[in-house]
Amino acid sequence: MSKIKTAFFCQNCGTQAAKYLGKCPSCGEWNSFVEEVIQKPTTSSGGARKKSTPKAIHDLESQMLPRMEVLDQELHRVLGGGLVPGSLLLFGGEPGIGKSTLMIQLALRQLNMSVLYVSGEESAEQIKMRADRVGYSNPRCLVLMETSLETILLHLHEHQPSLVIIDSIQTLSTDTIESPPGSVGQVRECASQLLKFAKETNTVVILIGHITKEGTLAGPKVLEHMVDTVLHFEGDRQHIYRLLRTPKNRFGSTNELGIYEMRHAGLQEVNNPSDLFIHQHDEQLSGSAIGACMEGVRPILLEIQSLVSTAVYGTPQRSTTGFDIRRLNMLLAVLEKRCGFRLGSKDVFLNVAGGMRIEDPAMDLAVIAAILSSNEDIALPPLTAFAGEVGLSGEIRPVHRTDGRIQEAKKLGFHKIFVSGYSKGLEDLGGQIQIIQVCKVEEMVAHLFG
Ligand code: TYD
Ligand code: MG
Repeated sequence: MSKIKTAFFCQNCGTQAAKYLGKCPSCGEWNSFVEEVIQKPTTSSGGARKKSTPKAIHDLESQMLPRMEVLDQELHRVLGGGLVPGSLLLFGGEPGIGKSTLMIQLALRQLNMSVLYVSGEESAEQIKMRADRVGYSNPRCLVLMETSLETILLHLHEHQPSLVIIDSIQTLSTDTIESPPGSVGQVRECASQLLKFAKETNTVVILIGHITKEGTLAGPKVLEHMVDTVLHFEGDRQHIYRLLRTPKNRFGSTNELGIYEMRHAGLQEVNNPSDLFIHQHDEQLSGSAIGACMEGVRPILLEIQSLVSTAVYGTPQRSTTGFDIRRLNMLLAVLEKRCGFRLGSKDVFLNVAGGMRIEDPAMDLAVIAAILSSNEDIALPPLTAFAGEVGLSGEIRPVHRTDGRIQEAKKLGFHKIFVSGYSKGLEDLGGQIQIIQVCKVEEMVAHLFG
């Protein structure tokens, strides 16, 4: 067996060096050198390389990969309909957000799978305590306390589980690289060996990776291009719910959103999120409006709160939480220029209640309604929802899945919903809910404030 060789490479320009350098002599970048394996030991079978040949695309056989059903409905949907055998997933999030909890729940709930949960962070007792808390049990779930990649691979070949969870990739180390665990070189090399294992044995491998809010812990970020699916768990400590997103998914849509609630007994799936995000007050308050937005294929009703007050300083303040501030500025300009509301000298604060972050343009109408309601200091009529995009000329444009949004509002007992006058085919959707179609912001204002 020949010896393993490693070298250091600048991640910016690719310059190679025999040892670590603080500054790249070629491009001048600081702290850019990462250790990489350049020659692996040759095994007896290694020499003969299998030749690949190009094929015509219509000769390729398309095989539908049978997915493994995930009992956790939120995770199932976010994954695009279950786990694909042989895939490598990266599950990132801030420390303490609940990654280990979600994964142990998955491992213990999937009675249809044999699972190996590898932990390099916690002791067996800690894992047992957490497992008892979440209240599921799976006799086919094995736990392994180990950080050496070589030992883990030995166990994997011996036990042949169908799902492997690594908690976390930053704790693993391989003998081939001398850098400490968690360094970019180690993380990348360990992940690439696990990727090879996943593809060769058709095993699902989930890597947990800690990522801070600023993305400063660079390790797991470098894996994003390597893995099939990137899951991201987010939310803040002040709120009990957690959001699961897929910034990358080779097997499904990246628009889906999973919602969980962190309870005493683990993470609870939230199947009816609108209930969680809107609080109908007994007394109607000005400045609050409910918008129907889509997260993936699921409509969610969210509350927008706004406060408009006379600016104390010369330059009025604009501040948002959970909403794009440039979009707010644009909407304010439309209100000012097209509808004659004098908001130029007012401070405007906007908040998406519950800490959600929204990008759906259909929320424009609710934003405008909340701002006008606060500006006039008149509460909006109770049980009224909004769904529409506002264009630069003050026109209200139709949004996709308007029917789905109306259905959701109807399901939650809303009496009225404002949508674009240009949306077609909504006649049959009415019933208990009154659908008000408006083409211009002025029309909506006339309806709301008379
Ligand atoms: P954890 O899964 O350890 O986070 P991560 O692996 O992302 O670092 O979960 C951390 C928090 O979750 C912890 O502070 C306590 C809380 N928690 C609950 O509220 N209920 C529970 O049932 C469990 C297991 C954890
Ligand atoms: Mg953890």
